[in-house]
Amino acid sequence: TRPLNVALLGCGVVGSEVARIMTTNAEDLEQRIGAPIRLAGIAVRRLNKQRDLPVDASLFTTDAHELVARGDIDVVVEVIGGIEPARSLLLKAMENGASVVTANKALLAEDGATLHAAAEKHGVDLYFEASVAGAIPLLRPLRESLAGDKVHRVLGIVNGTTNYILTRMDETGAGFEEALEEATALGYAEADPTADIEGFDAAAKAAILAGLAFHTRVTAADVHREGITEVTAADVASAKDMGCVVKLLAICERDGDAVSARVHPAMIPRTHPLASVREAFNAVFVESEAAGQLMFYGRGAGGAPTASAVLGDLVAVCRNKLQNAKGPGESAYAQLRVKPMGEI
Ligand code: HSE
Repeated sequence: TRPLNVALLGCGVVGSEVARIMTTNAEDLEQRIGAPIRLAGIAVRRLNKQRDLPVDASLFTTDAHELVARGDIDVVVEVIGGIEPARSLLLKAMENGASVVTANKALLAEDGATLHAAAEKHGVDLYFEASVAGAIPLLRPLRESLAGDKVHRVLGIVNGTTNYILTRMDETGAGFEEALEEATALGYAEADPTADIEGFDAAAKAAILAGLAFHTRVTAADVHREGITEVTAADVASAKDMGCVVKLLAICERDGDAVSARVHPAMIPRTHPLASVREAFNAVFVESEAAGQLMFYGRGAGGAPTASAVLGDLVAVCRNKLQNAKGPGESAYAQLRVKPMGEI
C-alpha cells in the first residue's frame, strides 16, 4: 500500500510532540492504519529555531500555503491556532482533497460552519478531538458513542490554566495576581494569559461542546463569558468557610428548542467530584437521557497529552482515506435558539 502523506502545520509544544510520536511510533501507527504514514512537510514560522526532533531537516518549510497546495498530501494536521492563516490553509487543504485534523478551538468556535461545509463539499474528514480538553476523549463520544442518545447538559472544567490558578488560591490563600505569576513561572500560563483568565478559551470550548452535544450551531459569541480576574482571595476564603471551592465552569444546557452556553466562576461543594479536579486537569460531565451521567477526566493541555488526541484523529482519518470512507460530518440538524443571558 502506498504511504499516506501528512503535512503538519505548526511545530510548537503540540506540533513537535505530534512529529516525535509519528516518527517514534511509526510501526505501530502503520499496523493500526493498514498503511505507512509519512511526514511530508512541516510548516513553521522560523526555519533556524533549534529543534531536537527525530525528523529530516529538509521537511521544514516556512511556506505553509505551498505545502497544503501540494498534490500529494492526504492529511493536513493543523496546530497553529488562531483564525488566519489557519482557516485559509485548511480550506485550501480540503479543496485539494486532504482530510483535516485540527486542534484549533478558536477557529472552530468562530467559523466551524465554513470548515464543516468545505469538508462536506470535498468529501473529506474534519476531526478536532484535541480542540477541547486536550487528551480527554470527549468529542468522539459526543459525536459517535452518544449519537443515539439525547444529551441534556454538558458541564465541566475545560481550562487548565485557570484551574491551576484557582487551585493554588484555594491551597495557599494567595491572591489572583500572585497565583497567576506562579502559573506563568511554571509554564502553566502562557506569556499572554488573556484568553485563559478572561474565559475566551473556555468559551470557545463551550461553543464546540454545545454544538456537538445538541446537534446545532453555537459560536463563541453566543457564550456568556466571565473569567476569573475578579476572583479575590476573600472570595476563595469565604467559599472555603462554606465547604466550597471556586471553579471556572463551562455549562451547556438544552431546554426544549433552546440551548444556553456559559462560562463563569462558580462555588462547588467540596464533596462534588469536580471539586477534586486540581491543578491543570480538566473534567467534564455529560448528562443524557438514556446514558444518565458520564464523567470524563484527564489532562486538558500540554504537548504530549494534546498530541495523543491529534494522533488518535490522524489514525481515524487515515483509516477512512484507505477505505474511501468518511467519519461523522457536522450533524447540526436543527438551528436551536441560543438563549441570551437574561433568560438563563
Ligand atoms: N490554555 C489552555 C488551557 C490550553 O489552559 O486549558 C488547552 O486548550
